[in-house]
Amino acid sequence: MLHIVIIVTLLSVRHAKSSYLILAPKQVQPGVNFDISVTVLNASSDVTVKAKLVTTINSSFISQTSGTFNRESTNQLSLHVPDSLEQAGKLIIRGTGGLSFTEETYISYHDPKGNMIKQWRNVSHDSGVYAGSMVMTDNPVLVLPKFEVTVHLPSFILTNTPQVHGIVEAKYSYGKPVSGNVEIEANLRYSYNSWNYQGSKAIIRLHNITIGSDGKARFVIPMATIRPSFGISTGQYLVVTANVTETLTDITFSGSEEVTFSYQTKKILFLSTTKTTFKPGLPYKIDAQLTKIDGTPITTYAQGILQIIVFSKEPIPSTTPQYYYGPTVHTYNLNDIRLNVSTAGIISELIHIPDNATKIQIKISFDNIAEHTEVTKYYSPSNSFIQLNVKSKEIMTGDKAEFSIQSTRPLSSVVVQVSIRFNQSKAKPGDNVTISVAADPKSYMYMLVADESSSYLREGNDITKEQVS
Ligand SMILES: *[C@@H]1O[C@H](CO)[C@@H](O)[C@H](O)[C@H]1NC(C)=O
Ligand SMILES: *[C@@H]1O[C@H](CO)[C@@H](O)[C@H](O)[C@H]1NC(C)=O
Ligand SMILES: *[C@@H]1O[C@H](CO)[C@@H](O)[C@H](O)[C@H]1NC(C)=O
Ligand SMILES: *[C@@H]1O[C@H](CO)[C@@H](O)[C@H](O)[C@H]1NC(C)=O
Ligand SMILES: *[C@@H]1O[C@H](CO)[C@@H](O)[C@H](O)[C@H]1NC(C)=O
Ligand SMILES: *[C@@H]1O[C@H](CO)[C@@H](O)[C@H](O)[C@H]1NC(C)=O
Ligand SMILES: *[C@@H]1O[C@H](CO)[C@@H](O)[C@H](O)[C@H]1NC(C)=O
Ligand SMILES: *[C@@H]1O[C@H](CO)[C@@H](O)[C@H](O)[C@H]1NC(C)=O
Ligand SMILES: *[C@@H]1O[C@H](CO)[C@@H](O)[C@H](O)[C@H]1NC(C)=O
Repeated sequence: MLHIVIIVTLLSVRHAKSSYLILAPKQVQPGVNFDISVTVLNASSDVTVKAKLVTTINSSFISQTSGTFNRESTNQLSLHVPDSLEQAGKLIIRGTGGLSFTEETYISYHDPKGNMIKQWRNVSHDSGVYAGSMVMTDNPVLVLPKFEVTVHLPSFILTNTPQVHGIVEAKYSYGKPVSGNVEIEANLRYSYNSWNYQGSKAIIRLHNITIGSDGKARFVIPMATIRPSFGISTGQYLVVTANVTETLTDITFSGSEEVTFSYQTKKILFLSTTKTTFKPGLPYKIDAQLTKIDGTPITTYAQGILQIIVFSKEPIPSTTPQYYYGPTVHTYNLNDIRLNVSTAGIISELIHIPDNATKIQIKISFDNIAEHTEVTKYYSPSNSFIQLNVKSKEIMTGDKAEFSIQSTRPLSSVVVQVSIRFNQSKAKPGDNVTISVAADPKSYMYMLVADESSSYLREGNDITKEQVS
């Protein structure tokens, strides 16, 4: 059988001024010279690079070669690879002279079916100053008739579904469908809560299914074969493995996929725009989304209900001895809100929270699913709140900005003072400019300085409203 050797790679960070770059193929093939490209990017003098292949058993040489490289030059080193490689070996590339470094990698032998990838291990540098990087080319010495096996399963399995449908797809790396046969095996994996114990139960084996001309084999697993295996365990999932054997060569490749079970088809998700605190007496927005269990949008219309429980603390009457009784907490419900959601499943409700609320519990339910969240009161020493929203979209210096203000107490006036001043109206890159800003004590100010001429680059380094609030 043909043996190939696969080497895999180290990518160390280049941190020193002097550095080098080594490029080598991903695979070594017996009898084919192994070409290494060495680029010395910067070194104080010429660099001697030695490459050798040694056995890991007794470190005796299999092959070696060396060359001398000038600064800023790229040259090839060609390492002879004998026709027969019997045991695991090691490739060592060592630089001396203007640069000193050692790169080592273990190589191991696989038949063409095993695409094992090995890592560089035990890399050492003779000098603490230099670092190197080894980049493997994407042009391996040997191109195998390799194909890929993919198992397609639904994104979740409903426990009350009658059967699970799946597809095994086999394609060559260049896209053409594979003709062959497939063996399929399904297992139920589970873990027990208490000991993190993991187990696996065989469910079904489907033999010798012929792959269609489209490279696909369709299969069905009846739920009746899975259900008896459901137990008291948690985190159960179905693992489907497929071995595809190519008709012409008898070469087999595998693929597998796993999928979890769900008792529900949908789930409710509170969106991040639903704040974790509320200001009593002011409108509070609840944003949520009803989605399929896999997070994709629902496709049908649904009706649900939004329920809110308000917690309020009664002031302690002065006559009550306060040994260990805290203030009495009362709870009451706000009127239920009916929710009608359509295809995107977006739920957006503005609710009014009573002044005496200290905490609210929000419950959204649709049929037999429900989601809860708890929101607490925003702290204010005076127990009064204002909510300020900027209505103007983009404000430039000199523009008038429009705000909307809501308050829990009558306001005679709101004073917001911010001033910003530049000491010169024009500046060249590299110039120093003084920016004077003034605002009331305890104000927060965020500044973004942008070079208008380069703003088309849209580098995304800007301060956004989300980062600030
Ligand atoms: C090249 O390396 C020398 C030291 O070996 C260092 O002084 C010099 O700055 C380096 N040059 C560059 C372009 O990195
Ligand atoms: C090292 O091992 C190889 C292959 O097993 C053998 O041919 C060689 O003689 C050994 N060398 C030494 C020094 O033991
Ligand atoms: C790693 O390298 C060190 C020194 O370079 C050496 O002593 C050690 O034996 C090596 N370990 C392996 C697993 O090769
Ligand atoms: C696939 O091949 C592997 C390795 O030969 C074997 O262990 C496994 O049982 C096979 N699976 C199927 C579904 O035939
Ligand atoms: C698998 O099916 C093919 C026909 O599609 C047949 O030629 C082959 O002998 C079968 N292999 C096994 C192991 O049953
Ligand atoms: C809080 O206010 C609601 C109505 O706004 C009222 O029904 C409830 O009794 C109040 N609770 C307390 C503890 O004052
Ligand atoms: C929700 O939809 C139902 C059925 O179409 C309709 O009767 C009801 O008035 C709707 N409710 C709201 C609040 O839109
Ligand atoms: C800008 O200020 C820095 C620090 O005060 C100073 O080093 C630099 O020379 C100044 N640049 C100009 C163009 O004045
Ligand atoms: C503005 O301030 C900078 C830095 O303090 C200074 O270098 C510059 O000369 C000032 N420009 C004017 C017009 O005063």
